[in-house]
Amino acid sequence: MDHQPLRGQRALVTGANSGIGEGVARALGAAGAAVVVNFVSKPDAAAKIADEIKANGMDALAIRADVSKEAEVEAMFAEMERAWGGIDILVNNAGLQRDAPVTTMTIEQWNTVLGVNLTGTFLCSRAAARSMIQRGLRPEISRAAGKIICISSVHEVIPWAGHVNYAASKGGLGMFMKSLAQELAPHRIRVNSIAPGAIMTPINRDAWDTPEALGKLLRLIPYGRIGLPEDIGKVVAFLASDDADYIHGQTIYVDGGMTLYPEFAHGG
Ligand code: BGC
Repeated sequence: MDHQPLRGQRALVTGANSGIGEGVARALGAAGAAVVVNFVSKPDAAAKIADEIKANGMDALAIRADVSKEAEVEAMFAEMERAWGGIDILVNNAGLQRDAPVTTMTIEQWNTVLGVNLTGTFLCSRAAARSMIQRGLRPEISRAAGKIICISSVHEVIPWAGHVNYAASKGGLGMFMKSLAQELAPHRIRVNSIAPGAIMTPINRDAWDTPEALGKLLRLIPYGRIGLPEDIGKVVAFLASDDADYIHGQTIYVDGGMTLYPEFAHGG
């Protein structure tokens, strides 16, 4: 098995300075890709991850951009284009939560979540698709002209009370990804999503940082452990590689069985 299946490829991971994005950036670097580590805050964390990828022999760049802002996204892709001449792999990972009961949810909470999780994915995918189409196939590098991978969530299909903005953004991502996959297939651009379950990152700290919270969370995970960023990183590296060349328009759930309706193991 080829241990560096992404050799010669250029990747951009949004929100890559912590959590799942960090795990994905590291996994793509380990698989041989040059990686843009996008961030919006905590530049030191992004620089450290880029430095560590470089120390392992791959090229890396930390680039700041708020993915919900069109001009910032365009500037980031222009910088990547200048540095490396194009993009082969886009991972739309940047995402956040602003939780509230619907009756008190503010328009800011709604817009922030939809802006980053959904509009950000549109803006980055548009920029990547333009570049991939312009450059076309490079068969010596990959069987696809480009790969776009969205980091969705189990809440693409599991309703989530108290989180209508987040669940709506991930549900929307499902149809965005499939429609984009249909549209870009003739250009040989592969588009897929990975839907993580509960992964131990800052976004859900409240759900795992006390034994009580963790115990409650584990009741929702049949496989009996919380996920780690590397669980997602490894699947992204596979999905971006030619080993996954015939996977197109799919959401792959990486969730320890969270989508198996675990309550029904002992009920119904
Ligand atoms: C959310 C986490 C949550 C997980 C499982 C993710 O998409 O961001 O906060 O723990 O889904 O419910």
